[in-house]
Amino acid sequence: MKRKTSVVAVANTKGGVGKSTLSGNLAWGMAQAGCRTLLVDSDAQASVTKWFDLAEEVIFDRCQLTTARVLQTEVGRLRRQADYDVIIIDCPPLQSDVTAAAVSASALSLIPVLPSPLDVLAYADLIPLLRQAQALNPKLKLRFVVNQLDGRAALGQEVLESLADAEIGDVSSVRLHYLQDYRKVIAEGTSVVTRRCKAAKEIEDLALETIKTLGLRINKSASVREAALG
Ligand SMILES: Nc1ncnc2c1ncn2[C@@H]1O[C@H](COP(=O)(O)OP(=O)(O)OP(=O)(O)O)[C@@H](O)[C@H]1O
Ligand SMILES: [Mg+2]
Repeated sequence: MKRKTSVVAVANTKGGVGKSTLSGNLAWGMAQAGCRTLLVDSDAQASVTKWFDLAEEVIFDRCQLTTARVLQTEVGRLRRQADYDVIIIDCPPLQSDVTAAAVSASALSLIPVLPSPLDVLAYADLIPLLRQAQALNPKLKLRFVVNQLDGRAALGQEVLESLADAEIGDVSSVRLHYLQDYRKVIAEGTSVVTRRCKAAKEIEDLALETIKTLGLRINKSASVREAALG
C-alpha cells in the first residue's frame, strides 16, 4: 500500500529569516530519523539546490519547482503517486503566489521568525496570506519557529506575545540559536545533523516534533545518528 505523504512548507515572505537553513537541515534530520524525504526548492534563487549540489552524498531526494502552477500540480501528483513520507518545500521570499500554493498544499507550515519585535511586526503582510491558506485548507497547522536566538538573551516576552496575538498557529518548543555550524555546513554541502554540535540537537528535536505533529510512523532507530556519525 502506498504510504501517506505529508507536505511541510517552510515559509515566510520576509527574506533572510532562515527558510532555506531550516528546510535543508530539517530534510536531513527527518531523513536520518527514517522518513522517506523529498526536498522541493521553490525559490528561483535556488539556495538549497546550490547548497546540496556541493554534496558528495545526500540522504533525501530533491527537485526544483519554482512557479505556483507547477508546484501545485507536481506536489499533488507526487503525493498521489510517489512513495515519500514527507515533502518539505523551501519557499521563496516575496513571491507570495508560490508561497500561497505551497502553504495551501501543506499539512504543516513552519514559519521561521527572527526573535526581535520589529521583525515580528513586519509579518503584517504574511498573516493575511496564512489566513487565506487556512480558509482553503482547514486542516493546515501553522507553527512559528524562532531562529537565530542569541544564547545569552532570553526570548523577548513581547515576541512570543506578538506571535500568540496572531492566533493562527502555535510556536515550536524548539528554538534555533545563532550558531556558526548552521553557516559552515552550507559550504560543505551537508547538514548540522552530521556533526556533533548543539545545532544538530536542535534540528533533531525539530525533526522529532514535526514527525509527531504529522503523525508519521517511521522505523526510528536510535542508532541512525550514531551510524551516520561513524
Ligand atoms: N540559526 C542560525 N545561525 C547562524 N546563521 C544562520 C542561522 N539561520 C540562518 N543563518 C544564516 O542567515 C542567512 C539567511 O538564512 P537563509 O538563507 O536560510 O534565509 P532565507 O529565509 O532562506 O533567505 P531568503 O529569503 O533569501 O530565501 C544565511 O547566511 C544563513 O547561513
Ligand atoms: Mg531561502
